[in-house]
Amino acid sequence: MDPTDLDRPLDPLNSVAEAVFPSQNSTPSRRLYAISDLHLAYKENREALHSLKPHHNDSIILCGDVGETTEHLSLAFSAYKSCFDQVWWCPGNHELYTLPTKKQGPRGEQKYKECVEVARQYGVLTPEDDFVKWEGEGGPAIIAPIFTLYDYSFRPDHVKLEDAVAWAREENIEATDEVLLHPDPYPTRQDWCSALVARTDFKLTESVRQNPDVPVIIAGHWPLRQDLAQLFAIPRFSIWCGTKKTEDWHRRFNAKVVVSGHCHIRRTDYKDGVRFEEVSLGYPRQWEGCREKGLDINGIMREILPGPRTPVPGVDIPTLWRKYG
Ligand SMILES: [Fe+2]
Ligand SMILES: [Fe+2]
Repeated sequence: MDPTDLDRPLDPLNSVAEAVFPSQNSTPSRRLYAISDLHLAYKENREALHSLKPHHNDSIILCGDVGETTEHLSLAFSAYKSCFDQVWWCPGNHELYTLPTKKQGPRGEQKYKECVEVARQYGVLTPEDDFVKWEGEGGPAIIAPIFTLYDYSFRPDHVKLEDAVAWAREENIEATDEVLLHPDPYPTRQDWCSALVARTDFKLTESVRQNPDVPVIIAGHWPLRQDLAQLFAIPRFSIWCGTKKTEDWHRRFNAKVVVSGHCHIRRTDYKDGVRFEEVSLGYPRQWEGCREKGLDINGIMREILPGPRTPVPGVDIPTLWRKYG
């Protein structure tokens, strides 16, 4: 694909499918990919790393829930760094868990810092590093890995914050986070979220101020918007899925693509002309159908850049559900 094609408007009547499917016949060089929710506690997912194909000119963002332990992170970082040029990682809720078997282990912010140290050992970039300007296909773009957590605000208006967890429990839904994800040194998870959002808001604001003409790839674990935190089987799980404070970040921070995971429902959406990619692998049963169709971890990772051509402004493009990658 000629990179100059990327911003050429699509024919709104004939090109909707083309708008959301990456081109298959491009020269494979200097592309940006993303995948999340590798969940390496599962044997099938660990084994999937053995089939990773070399992409030495390409780079990839790992958008959280690699696993719960530093061993899981080492496995992933080692595998992806041996196959890709640059690797970014953002934390998910699972990396932040203090497992019952490691009761004396680091909690909350310390657990996050431990993960960042592992990333640095492998040369993997994290939300603690400066944003990088991507100069590959579909660029230039600022790659902004973020860590924002959640604050229970993805709930109906009639449910008070203090009642949110009880509201989810009414339907027998409760995230493991309530037991294993400690907010230390913050009093609550929503306090930690508030501090993270303020810090990330400042960093993105500065980045856009310094690079006003360069679009941004915002990549994190949790969806930025409540309308993308749809969990059809367990809708009240939404309270653990993000914060309303990031609802307009795609507009405020000149996003070209917003990447997330966490929901384990692969999809592509457009909001205000910005592409939103949910890029999860998920638990083994959640990509079993892909395996049955011959798709492996290479086929499930998502091309972020160059990606499909930008759709015509104002054209409503329906959600593309990516059950099979
Ligand atoms: Fe996950
Ligand atoms: Fe998650």
